[in-house]
Amino acid sequence: MQSRPYSLLGLALATSLLLSCTPVSAPDELNTSANDQPLAIGTPGIPQFAPAALIDEASALTQRFAGTLLPTLQSALQAGGPLNAIDVCALEAPRIAQQLSEESGWEVTRVSLKARNDTAVPDSWETQVLHMFDQRQQAGEAPATLNVAETVNGDFRYMQAQPTAPLCLTCHGSEVSQEVLSAIRAKYPNDLAIGYQAGQIRGAISLRKPM
Ligand code: HEC
Repeated sequence: MQSRPYSLLGLALATSLLLSCTPVSAPDELNTSANDQPLAIGTPGIPQFAPAALIDEASALTQRFAGTLLPTLQSALQAGGPLNAIDVCALEAPRIAQQLSEESGWEVTRVSLKARNDTAVPDSWETQVLHMFDQRQQAGEAPATLNVAETVNGDFRYMQAQPTAPLCLTCHGSEVSQEVLSAIRAKYPNDLAIGYQAGQIRGAISLRKPM
């Protein structure tokens, strides 16, 4: 592993992906990393067109994941309250991840340093990236702009931070109601995903594709 195992793609890239449909030109956009070292995704042997196209694809997938789950969660909360929404989240989140994986050929998961579902426990690369996301969020960067792309052991990997919005506190906050807490504990005995405040990073969507 290199001394800086990850590289942050900055605000410019995130913004350009959000605001425009035009392909990102790799050299300019990739130079937005905090240091001046070349990004790991520029590894020799990987065609130059690949990183920008892959980053574009990965970013779109993370937006589809969040953009599908959030309204589902919101309507489940409105329709049946938090207990209903817990069940919906438990079914829908893995279903959306699986559907996106099947459609795209990427492995799509969610991870967290304080996982609720045991399947969300991060591996060592994801753990490092999540710590880095936390540090950068604490230093004042907006979570929505925090993402990382890197080739790791022959896989192209991408992570997008997921911030905690006020809505999330019903089930992830520090004042979760007793009945919500009981329902969560019954389903997820190893749950660690309580005690967040709005604006903190709850976790990330993590993508992986063999090169
Ligand atoms: C109604 C309760 C509820 C609300 C509201 C809620 N979550 Fe969750 N969250 C859950 C449950 C239940 C799981 C476990 C889902 C599973 O089994 O995969 C979960 C899992 C997650 C995970 C996957 C990692 C892990 O720890 O398992 C992330 C990331 C996450 N939630 C982020 C959020 C964010 C961000 C919001 C607000 C936009 C939010 N959640 C709102 C109940 C909720």
